[in-house]
Amino acid sequence: MGRNFLTTSDWSPDELRTLIDRALRFKQKDHVSQVLSGRSVALVFFNPSLRTRASMQVGIYELGGNPVVLEPGGSSWTLEHREAVVMDGDKTEHIAEFVRVLARYCAAIGVRTFASLKDWEEERLDPVLKAFARHAEVPVINLESAMHHPCQALADMMTITEKLGNKRKQVLLTWAWHPKPLPMAVPNSFALAAAQMGHNLIIANPPGYDLDEELLGEVKSQAASAGGSVQFSQDVDEAFAEVDVVYAKSWGSKLFYGAPADDLAARAQYRERWIVNEQKMARTNKAIFMHCLPVRRNVIVTDKVIDSGFSVVIDEAENRLHIQKAIMEKLLVN
Ligand code: CP
Repeated sequence: MGRNFLTTSDWSPDELRTLIDRALRFKQKDHVSQVLSGRSVALVFFNPSLRTRASMQVGIYELGGNPVVLEPGGSSWTLEHREAVVMDGDKTEHIAEFVRVLARYCAAIGVRTFASLKDWEEERLDPVLKAFARHAEVPVINLESAMHHPCQALADMMTITEKLGNKRKQVLLTWAWHPKPLPMAVPNSFALAAAQMGHNLIIANPPGYDLDEELLGEVKSQAASAGGSVQFSQDVDEAFAEVDVVYAKSWGSKLFYGAPADDLAARAQYRERWIVNEQKMARTNKAIFMHCLPVRRNVIVTDKVIDSGFSVVIDEAENRLHIQKAIMEKLLVN
C-alpha cells in the first residue's frame, strides 16, 4: 500500500521542504517528469472547485497521465461512507467498493469532501476522507476534507518561501467576517504547515471562533519542535503589527456548528472590524497578502488590498499546480 497525503503533519518538515524545492523547480521549468506516463489518477469531487480541479487535471497531464474526474451523486453514484450501515436510504454505492474498484484503474485517488457543517463531533474526525484512506490500495491525496486542505497549505508555504525566502517569518492568520459559516480546513492546515515550517504564527479571531483544541495542540507542538512560536489574539488591529504575511480566511464557530442562523447573529458585530483593509496592512512590515480563493471582495478584503502590489493571491493559486505535481511525483515515483 502506498503512502497518502492527507495532512502535512503526516510528513516531516524536511520532507515538506523537499516538496517545496521540487515544486519551485517545476515552476522554473528546471525539472520535468513523466512519472504518470501510461497511468491515470482519479479525482473525486463531492463539492465545487476551480483551482483544485483545474490544477490537478493540468498537473496530471503535465506528468504524462490521465485524470479521471468523478462527482458522486452527479457523474457517479451517491456514496455511503459509514461502516455496517443498512443501505436502504438514498446512497447507492459504498466507499468500500467505489475506492477499491477505482484503485484497479488508477495509480492514486484524490478526493474533495467538505464539512457539511452539521455535526462537529463527527466532522472533526474527517470520516469520509478516512474511509477513502481505509479502503484504498493506492495513495490517497486530500483535495480538501472537513478538517484539512494540505495541498493548499503547502502551496501557501511555497509562496511564502518564493516571495520572502527561507527564513522564519511573522505570519498572521486572521479570521474575517463572511455572510455564512465556512469550514475550518484551510485555517487548520495553514496553521499546521506554518508551524511545521518554523514560522512565528499569530492566530487572530473573535471570541467563540477558536480553532479545534486538539488541532491547536498539534500546531503548538509542531511550532515548538521547529523553533517557531504560536500566539493568539482577539484584537484584529494589534495582530497586524509588524507581521510579514497576512493570511485571511473566514470560518464557522464550533459553538454554533449546525446552527448557521445563530452563528450569523453572533458574528454580525464583527462585520465592520474583521476585514483586511489598507489601514490594517499599513501596520504590517510591508506584508504580503494571501488568501486561498475564492474570496469575496470588500467582505474579506478590500479591492485596494487585493489589487495592490502586496497581494500574491494569483501566484499562490498558480503554486497549487507546481506543489501538487511535486506531491504526485513523490507518491508515485516507484
Ligand atoms: N483554494 C481552493 O481550493 O480553491 P477551489 O475551491 O476553487 O478548488
